[in-house]
Amino acid sequence: MILLGLDTSCDDTSAAVVEDGRRVLANVVHSQVKVHHPYGGVVPELASREHMRNIVPVVEACLSECGGDFQSLDGIAVTVGPGLVGALLVGLYYAKGLAMAGGLPLVPVNHLEGHILSIFLEEEVPFPFVALTVSGGHTSLYHVTGFGRYVQMGQTLDDAAGEAFDKVAKILGLGYPGGVLIDRLARQGRPDAVAFPRAMLDRDSLDFSFSGLKTAVALFVEKWSQDPARAASVGLHDIVASFQEAVVDVLVEKVRRAREATGVSSLVVAGGVACNSRLRARLRETFSESRVGLYFPSPRYCTDNGAMIAAAGYHRLRRGELADLSVDVRSKFPIQDDSTSQGKA
Ligand code: KG4
Ligand code: ZN
Repeated sequence: MILLGLDTSCDDTSAAVVEDGRRVLANVVHSQVKVHHPYGGVVPELASREHMRNIVPVVEACLSECGGDFQSLDGIAVTVGPGLVGALLVGLYYAKGLAMAGGLPLVPVNHLEGHILSIFLEEEVPFPFVALTVSGGHTSLYHVTGFGRYVQMGQTLDDAAGEAFDKVAKILGLGYPGGVLIDRLARQGRPDAVAFPRAMLDRDSLDFSFSGLKTAVALFVEKWSQDPARAASVGLHDIVASFQEAVVDVLVEKVRRAREATGVSSLVVAGGVACNSRLRARLRETFSESRVGLYFPSPRYCTDNGAMIAAAGYHRLRRGELADLSVDVRSKFPIQDDSTSQGKA
């Protein structure tokens, strides 16, 4: 089964053609980083306009990359949420048009399910596993017992981890998006130079909180910039390394606890922040002595992409979960557990 997967949930216009939820035949992502860069974050109205401008060329480039056409498709999978409403609408209404014109099934996909299943584009992960989805919009832990079977174990109560990276980069005037820039700069810094807080580690809960950390960095930087002695002993790279270490400490510890609570022997880490080199290294170190299998998608499948949407859509289409043309976008869209929702999308 060959599916076109579309994602316009945030600031990437992405399309991919994927066979049987695994084999990527083409994957095209048009990034809007340059448009949002001057604002230090995503401007929703600009994102919608950019998606409108780019969706047709991106899909055409994707089809031409794999030498396919609309006739070669068996269905269209599209992100319906969670995400920016105006951005999601562009992808969904374009997909509706294609489905109607081509008489193709339309499969609505939860963006978070896409992130969780992105690993299957490259690996066969045995169920059950724990998935950490960690991106600009989300930080959540799931117990995954099969395709469509996700029990949320924890989530952020305020900012997402990627959002914290982006906001700290903005505070430090590093630019947008912050994750990659901080990851790079932190390699030259001392992770123990500044003792930033590790929120919610003293509680049993598997929830996260990153907004206090961002505020702690802002307060530190305010004092640091006015104190030449401090500025001489602690560099910018030390601040970002210390911030990154605080985020990574919390993520690693909560993943460790989630694994312990479930007893699973596989862990999947997905979403944009899963690109982070320190997070990958620390998780590898933590589980190196155990028999736990650690799975990270390649960076191009960690950040938003249409291939993961096609992968998630494939499993839903196989179960006959189609949408009619009245389906709408959902800015908030908690992930479904099919074992309790009888497979209703
Ligand atoms: O998954 P994604 O493309 O979009 C969302 O669904 O949010 O994730 C984007 C987020 C941004 O916040 C970006 O700063 C972060 O992922 N990110 C990173 C790295 N690469 C991307 N964060 C930390 N380290 C990285 N290397
Ligand atoms: Zn995402």
